[in-house]
Amino acid sequence: MKATALANSNIAVIKYWGKRDERLNLPANNSISFTMDDQLQTMTTVEFDSSMKEDVLELNHHPATSKETGRVTSFLDVVRRMAKIRTKARVVSKNSFPKSAGLASSASGFAALAGAASWAAGLHLSLRELSILARYGSGSASRSIFGGAVEWLAGKKKNGSDSYSVQISPPEEWVHLHNVIALVSESEKKVSSVEGMRRLKTSSLFKARLRTMDSRLKTARSAIKHGNFEDVVIPIMQDSDNMHAVMLDCWPPVCYLTDTSFEIMEKVLELNESHGKPVAAYTFDAGPNAHVYTTEKYAHEVERMLKYTDGVLRTLNCKIGKGIRFVNEDLF
Ligand code: DP6
Repeated sequence: MKATALANSNIAVIKYWGKRDERLNLPANNSISFTMDDQLQTMTTVEFDSSMKEDVLELNHHPATSKETGRVTSFLDVVRRMAKIRTKARVVSKNSFPKSAGLASSASGFAALAGAASWAAGLHLSLRELSILARYGSGSASRSIFGGAVEWLAGKKKNGSDSYSVQISPPEEWVHLHNVIALVSESEKKVSSVEGMRRLKTSSLFKARLRTMDSRLKTARSAIKHGNFEDVVIPIMQDSDNMHAVMLDCWPPVCYLTDTSFEIMEKVLELNESHGKPVAAYTFDAGPNAHVYTTEKYAHEVERMLKYTDGVLRTLNCKIGKGIRFVNEDLF
């Protein structure tokens, strides 16, 4: 059977950085994100074929590297175990954004793969089950199963059955919200998320971060549930700053931010100052690209400001989008 799924990337406002179990990809804390619109989308078709001797993966019209194929094969092994099959698969995947954009995201990739592979294997999973499955590929992929604002629960169980995502607010409530992205680098990150998170055992600040998570999560969750963006602006920036401080506290230190990233942070703070209220929030993942959440009213001003910052290659103005979808149109 062949199946095709679409999934969009998501950008966390309260970050996932640290695992309580690396094999099962169980996070040390809950995280909250918004799912992006179709500008940051992955489309994936999977077919299990008994005549194949090994899994074959094509990414953005090119054969995948052995490293990429290895990661997908490990993921497909999880699906095969669940479906009690041994058949190999052909996987074709393409992103709506150029690979060189520095936005290549494992979140949309593994969410789309979870949907397409499970359906093609004859498993008809609920959205909650899909978010658990996507988590095996990449933690943040768990959140991309849902649209709008999403919380991924860390859970407590050893087997991870209580670590899944839930929608906390639908996309229709956030039509006025933008994520204006400033691309600062197009290259792949120097330290992978897996490696960066492994180094957390050397950081004493990480323990302090975990103690402050609950209060930030509570503020963000409640503001988002009430559709109140202004109240979440400062916690978003504080959580990003805190995560990057913890990264730097590791040994060897992990530093994803560049001078341009710091320049953008300054400019966003000045913008808020000039409006006399919090109107825009910066947040950075494991890289120097800035994600600036703001509302419709300020989106153009933010985009102009980012465009004219030295070191910014280009900007992308994203809105809030939907969760996973299955489509009839296949990639092969
Ligand atoms: C900084 O989901 O890429 O973007 O689970 O190891 O694949 P793995 O990590 P990944 O980590 C993303 C971390 C982050 C913050 C976030 O998205 O919450």
